[in-house]
Amino acid sequence: MTAEVAPRKCMGVDCDKNAGTLQCPTCLKAGLDSYFCSQDCFKRSWSEHKSIHKKTTGIYNPFPSFTYPGNLRPVYPLSPRRTVPKTIPHPEYAKDGIARSEQKFVGRNNIKILNKEEQEGMRKVCRLAREVLDIAAAELKPGVTTDYIDEVVHKACLERDSYPSPLNYYNFPKSVCTSINEIICHGIPDQRPLEDGDIVNIDVTLYHNGFHGDLNETYYVGDKAKANPDAVRVVETSRECLDMSIDLVKPGMLFRDPGNVIEKHAKTRNCSVVKSYCGHGINQMFHCAPNVPHYARNKAVGTAKPGMVFTIEPMINLGTHRDRTWPDDWTSSTADGALSAQFEHTLLVTEDGVEVLTARLPTSPGGAVPIPAAEEAKNEA
Ligand code: MF3
Ligand code: CO
Ligand code: CO
Repeated sequence: MTAEVAPRKCMGVDCDKNAGTLQCPTCLKAGLDSYFCSQDCFKRSWSEHKSIHKKTTGIYNPFPSFTYPGNLRPVYPLSPRRTVPKTIPHPEYAKDGIARSEQKFVGRNNIKILNKEEQEGMRKVCRLAREVLDIAAAELKPGVTTDYIDEVVHKACLERDSYPSPLNYYNFPKSVCTSINEIICHGIPDQRPLEDGDIVNIDVTLYHNGFHGDLNETYYVGDKAKANPDAVRVVETSRECLDMSIDLVKPGMLFRDPGNVIEKHAKTRNCSVVKSYCGHGINQMFHCAPNVPHYARNKAVGTAKPGMVFTIEPMINLGTHRDRTWPDDWTSSTADGALSAQFEHTLLVTEDGVEVLTARLPTSPGGAVPIPAAEEAKNEA
C-alpha cells in the first residue's frame, strides 16, 4: 500500500475544493503558501484574503526554493534565543554547541554501568522531564504555536533547576523538539499554529544535577486527528512498538533485539520503521553507547546489564521508511510526506528487568486511542 499526502485545499472563502497551482502573488513574495482553486475564487475572496497580508507581516518560509516532501512548511522568524540563568548547571556544549565528551566515547564497546548514586540522579532528572512533558502537552490545542510550547518547556525546566538539553546541542536553536505530521524527529519550534487534525510529537530532555533524562510522546491535536484512521494507526503502532520492546528489557537482552520486535509489529500495521535514528545510552552524556536500532536484523553491539541506562524511541511511518532533512539541517521529514509518529522512554536495567524512569503518571495527558474497527478489519482481510 502506498501512503498518500492529503491534497492542498483552496484558500478561498467558504471553498472546499482542492487547490490548483494558482498562488496569491503577495503571499508568494512573503514566502507564504496560499493556493487557490481558480482565478474566480481568488478574486471573490480578495477583500477577506488581503487582511492576512497585514497579520502575517514579517512571517516567511526561510527556504522558498526547497522542494518539501510534504505539506508542512517552516514558519519563521524563530523567536530570539532563550536564556538560562548562570546559577543552573549547564552541559558542556551550552557555549559552543560541541558535546566533546560524547565524541571521545563513540567507542561502542564501552557501555557505562551507573552506581546507586548515579541511578538516583537519573531517576530524579527523568521524573522532572516527565513533569515538563506533561505540562507542555496540556497546552496543545488548535491555534497554539510550537514556539509557545518551547516557551512553556523552557520555563518549566528553569523552575526545576534544569537546563533544557536540546538548547544549543550541536547548535539546535530551541529548548525542545516539536515534530508535526510528516516530521520524523528534530522539528524546530516556530510560528506555525497547530491545526485541528495535526499530530505532534514533543521530545523533552532535561539536564539536572549532572544527568540528562529524555522522553517523548506523540499527541492528537483537536478532534479531527483522532477521527483520522491513518493518524491513529501510525500513532498507536508507534506507542505499541515502544511498549512491546520495553517488555524485552532485562539483563542479557542483546541491543540488537528490540528492532526485531518493533519492525515485526510495525509490519502488521502496514507501517515502516525509520533506520536513520536510534535509541541511545544516556547519563552524564546526552547521547552515548549503546546504539539501539529500531529495525530488524540490525548489527547493534552489546548486552544489557544491571545499571545501564538507555532510550528506546521508535519512529514509525505510514509510507516509506526513508527520511530527508530540511535545509535547517535538523528537521527530519519522511521522504514521501506521509505521517510519522514516535514515542520514547529512558530505561534503567535492573537485576531482574527494567525500570521505566520516564513512565507516565495517572495525570499525564494523551494516552492510547482505540484503532477504528474498520482499520483492524482491513488489516485482517
Ligand atoms: N531528544 C532527542 C533524542 O531523543 C535528541 C534531540 S537533539 C536536539 O535523542 F538537538 F535536536 F535537541
Ligand atoms: Co528525545
Ligand atoms: Co533520545
